[in-house]
Amino acid sequence: MKFFIDTADVAEIREAHEMGILDGVTTNPSLVAKTGRKFREILEEIVSIVDGPVSAEVVSTDTAGMLKEARELSQIHKNIVVKIPMTIEGLKALKVCTEENIKTNVTLVFHPNQALLVAKVGATYVSPFVGRLDDISTVGMDLIEQIRTIYDNYDFETQILVASIRNPIHLMESAMLGADVSTIPLSVIKQLAKHPLTDIGLERFLKDWEKVPQ
Ligand code: E4P
Repeated sequence: MKFFIDTADVAEIREAHEMGILDGVTTNPSLVAKTGRKFREILEEIVSIVDGPVSAEVVSTDTAGMLKEARELSQIHKNIVVKIPMTIEGLKALKVCTEENIKTNVTLVFHPNQALLVAKVGATYVSPFVGRLDDISTVGMDLIEQIRTIYDNYDFETQILVASIRNPIHLMESAMLGADVSTIPLSVIKQLAKHPLTDIGLERFLKDWEKVPQ
């Protein structure tokens, strides 16, 4: 399973990159707004750090506007993946992007039928949001299992990119269900590495080492 980091903060991207686990980056308008920086400037910096897919989201809601943004964003760097919202207008934009070989990530997916449409129109990635489903008392991971089954039934090539990951269990279950990619906040990436028995064990080893004649 590929690991993407879910942030527009370049300091966080650098840190995850240094950990050696980073395959790509996802951003969204809310994450970009948090940085207070210009979008293009951030994207140019990200592609200079990570040699992998970098999702950049369009903010137009009509097909013509989405396509204009998609073409501009995809020109910035070969690794830019254009993020398109899961709407009818978005599907129309996706169709043209697929024809023009622009890499795409369809976002805000909350139902298997939406994921089926996305795959039929040839998206590179589909982004089902597990955390936001959990937030409304619906088991988000069920959606990943359903999409995996549908995509495997018909050999769809669209990659399942699990989004809105909030905790290490989301990540573990994504891997067990065979998701292709997980996009993870830095705080959760760090949690993945932690275990209290690791900390206790290390402390004990270091304490015992003090008794070894130097
Ligand atoms: C990434 O592609 C998504 O936009 C992001 O994972 C959404 O996460 P959130 O539900 O925590 O905002």
